[in-house]
Amino acid sequence: MDSSKSQTIINVRDLVVGFEDQTVLDHLSLDVKRGEILGVVGASGSGKSVLLRTIIGLVPKRAGRISILDNDRDEATPEKIREIERHWGIMFQQGALFSSLTVRQNVEFPMREHLNLSDRLRAEVARTKLGMVGLSPEDTEKYPSELSGGMTKRVALARALALDPQIVFLDEPTSGLDPIAASDFDTLIKTLQKTLGLTVFMVTHDLDSLHTVCNRIAALCDGKMVAEGSFDTMLASTHPWVKAYFQGTRARNATLSEPSSASRPN
Ligand SMILES: Nc1ncnc2c1ncn2[C@@H]1O[C@H](COP(=O)(O)OP(=O)(O)O)[C@@H](O)[C@H]1O
Ligand SMILES: [Mg+2]
Repeated sequence: MDSSKSQTIINVRDLVVGFEDQTVLDHLSLDVKRGEILGVVGASGSGKSVLLRTIIGLVPKRAGRISILDNDRDEATPEKIREIERHWGIMFQQGALFSSLTVRQNVEFPMREHLNLSDRLRAEVARTKLGMVGLSPEDTEKYPSELSGGMTKRVALARALALDPQIVFLDEPTSGLDPIAASDFDTLIKTLQKTLGLTVFMVTHDLDSLHTVCNRIAALCDGKMVAEGSFDTMLASTHPWVKAYFQGTRARNATLSEPSSASRPN
């Protein structure tokens, strides 16, 4: 077995995506490694969501190659695509739950599509997933309108985990949350990644998330990845956008880092 290949769970090469006369992604290449939490950062409108949606097949590409779970998207049969789709879960930027369904029914939704389970077992699995993201049993029969922002995100995450995915795609998971709820959500992502051995592809421009949760960061600018690496690599980048974005976080980073790497300004 080619182990180097299987360590790369998503492989994107020379990807070109556009809409009419606009080119959004322009020969973008990116690898996502098995078991990592990759943070994709970029200016608003730079194409982060488009990249995520193209990888999962919701947006057509103009050129390039996307391989996911060792399957080339262009070569895989529709049956194969449907089979591998079972291995990822998605939390969209708008995180929308079905308002007419209860929390539990929302989590059951992907299971209804992909798994042949009895009603009882499906409900049981959904309750387990909801427990994993920190919801209490009495929350499971609530409707989305009765939930706080943080709880809504947790339900959306439970739904993304419904099929025991290998990969979870998160689009701006902490947007709209207050700092405490965002920090709790970061901790949850990190814990779940560890306990479930997930690979996480996370679009975010939350610097705290990038710093505390992500193993690796990729910065998107002008349709390409212009910097890739650790938070420290981002701080050291000379790319104008990356520099501007991460500028001013050095002091806070030093405060948050372990004493060994901290050089606190005084
Ligand atoms: N379905 C679409 N049709 C036309 N243009 C789109 C579509 N989706 C995204 N775009 C455009 O692509 C660019 C990147 O969008 P997006 O990926 O949503 O940015 P962000 O980095 O903020 O997530 C934007 O200019 C957006 O208007
Ligand atoms: Mg977006």
